[in-house]
Amino acid sequence: MAYAITQTCCTDASCIAVCPVNCIHPAPGEPDFGTTDVLYVDPRTCIDCGACADACPVDAVKPADTLTGPDAVYAERGARYYADRDPNPAWTEPRIPRSLPPGTPAPRVAIVGTGPAACYTAQELLRCADAEVTMIDRLPVAGGLVRFGVAPDHVGTRGIGESFAALLRHPRVRTHLGVEVGTDVTHADLVRHHHAVVYAVGAAAPRPLGVPGADLPGSLPATRFVAWYNDHPEAPANLVDLTGVRRAVVVGNGNVALDVARLLAVDPDSLAGTGIAAHALDALRAGGPREVVVLGRRGPGQAAYTWPELHALKHLPGVRLVVADSPETRAALARADPADPTDHAALLHDVPIEPVDFGSAPPPGRRIVLSFSCAPVEVRGLGRVSSVRTTTGDIDAQLLVSAIGYRGTPLPDLPFDEATGTVPHDRGRVEAAPGTYVVGWIKRGPSGGIGANRLCAQETADSLLTDASAGRLPTPPGSARDFRRLVRGGAPRPMAGAR
Ligand SMILES: Cc1cc2nc3c(=O)[nH]c(=O)nc-3n(C[C@H](O)[C@H](O)[C@H](O)COP(=O)(O)OP(=O)(O)OC[C@H]3O[C@@H](n4cnc5c(N)ncnc54)[C@H](O)[C@@H]3O)c2cc1C
Ligand SMILES: NC(=O)c1ccc[n+]([C@@H]2O[C@H](COP(=O)([O-])OP(=O)(O)OC[C@H]3O[C@@H](n4cnc5c(N)ncnc54)[C@H](OP(=O)(O)O)[C@@H]3O)[C@@H](O)[C@H]2O)c1
Ligand code: SF4
Ligand code: SF4
Repeated sequence: MAYAITQTCCTDASCIAVCPVNCIHPAPGEPDFGTTDVLYVDPRTCIDCGACADACPVDAVKPADTLTGPDAVYAERGARYYADRDPNPAWTEPRIPRSLPPGTPAPRVAIVGTGPAACYTAQELLRCADAEVTMIDRLPVAGGLVRFGVAPDHVGTRGIGESFAALLRHPRVRTHLGVEVGTDVTHADLVRHHHAVVYAVGAAAPRPLGVPGADLPGSLPATRFVAWYNDHPEAPANLVDLTGVRRAVVVGNGNVALDVARLLAVDPDSLAGTGIAAHALDALRAGGPREVVVLGRRGPGQAAYTWPELHALKHLPGVRLVVADSPETRAALARADPADPTDHAALLHDVPIEPVDFGSAPPPGRRIVLSFSCAPVEVRGLGRVSSVRTTTGDIDAQLLVSAIGYRGTPLPDLPFDEATGTVPHDRGRVEAAPGTYVVGWIKRGPSGGIGANRLCAQETADSLLTDASAGRLPTPPGSARDFRRLVRGGAPRPMAGAR
């Protein structure tokens, strides 16, 4: 019996490199890689060796015959993916990582951030050259969104944090936590002590909702709400008051919106023992909503969530998933073709479509309502949210979470593109600042799962090593020891976790 790849796959392609028979696809360089939600094992050629399961950092690969309940469908999807494909596809060109010519001095590289983009970049530099890496993060805990973004009930996905934590213990890595670049140290400080500086600072700001009332108590962006349930050091325990919340509205149709909806709707007892913050669990137990309404401003065919996350929502224990009836939604769903894997609306073919009375208290039981072609126009309430006016009518709700995407913010001394919220670059190289590079969400914008940062990091590391080989990296006057002294002397905050 073959292996199969399940929900937590973050498409980082680690399994492809270890498969002895080339039966995991799409691989980097193949057409669907970069758009597929998960990778697939070809059951016709898999020899059941288990190497992929050992290599997977998020525990996504399982023997197909052990998959039960909602997970059983992953084996079927794998078989369907290969139904019309060649059982012996050509091997993709192996990637030969760039290395430095003999005699080139090993570069000393500062990486700002400790999220996935930073860690994949460090891995690449350590593997390809004798680089010394200084990792710096403004937070006292490493991991970026793997620690403070990924939902606490995505236990397998959070497991990737362990492999990143091991990287921070590498003998050629020094880590400074609780040090903010731009406040505690400057870009010039980094340049003075390193051959190259890589910014992997992510995109932590919320996209503004921009409707009247969006700042009322009881209305907040997902950036804050997610930080609250993940115990982010800057999100106070009392940030979210769920007292009296019967119905919550979540704006947006991406995976973050589904994370927020799921955590609000599920029986809080099922979250005990996950990494959820104790204060969030207490608040959910004391007064979480019975109904969560997820608003998509476009139709079901244009939703940004991925199939595995929607599939999980359909099977959430104790929670009914329904689609709010409307003529547009009914028409879009009627047109959907369940046989077409690219038809996003078809993902809802087995979800009931029902009229919903948004003006009355929610019915007994827990439910999530997907309401399409519906956008907020105003958030209303006296002193706190009591209703949301939308393009299709009013919704009686006591909490609004706006999950409409993240946004990068400008970095001192670097160029910035206001339209995309990213730093302009060429293959990761910031041309306006020689020796400076970007990677991850601050380079590409705030989309893509954890694994997408791996290819992105390979590209940035390649550019950096190309510049090192060509002698284009400036020689820093300061040493690594000088930099450590500077950080110890200059950083006003405790150096929790610094080595
Ligand atoms: C809520 C949420 C849930 C997600 N869940 C999943 C999931 O389940 N599966 C999946 O595959 N993907 C998931 N993703 C996507 C994934 O988290 C991102 O692809 C990834 O984290 C982006 O990596 P990054 O390194 O660019 O940014 P980040 O992970 O944000 O890391 C940036 C780091 O830089 C640090 N930093 C910022 N500014 C400074 C500064 N000035 N000085 C020093 N340090 C600084 C930050 O503290 C942070 O540690 C999720 C994203 C979100 C928002
Ligand atoms: N695998 C996982 O479990 C997981 C979990 C969380 C996040 N992630 C990944 O992290 C990335 C970021 O996720 P995300 O959900 O923040 O972003 P996203 O995927 O870009 O989704 C943003 C959503 O907000 C909507 N939106 C934007 N502006 C709006 C406005 N003004 N009013 C109403 N709706 C608006 C968008 O609709 P339009 O399409 O109409 O613009 C879209 O539906 C994604 O790649 C995601 O897959 C993965
Ligand atoms: S079990 Fe072995 S043969 Fe099968 S997909 Fe995994 S690595 Fe490839
Ligand atoms: S997370 Fe990576 S290693 Fe695991 S199945 Fe997906 S692509 Fe393969």
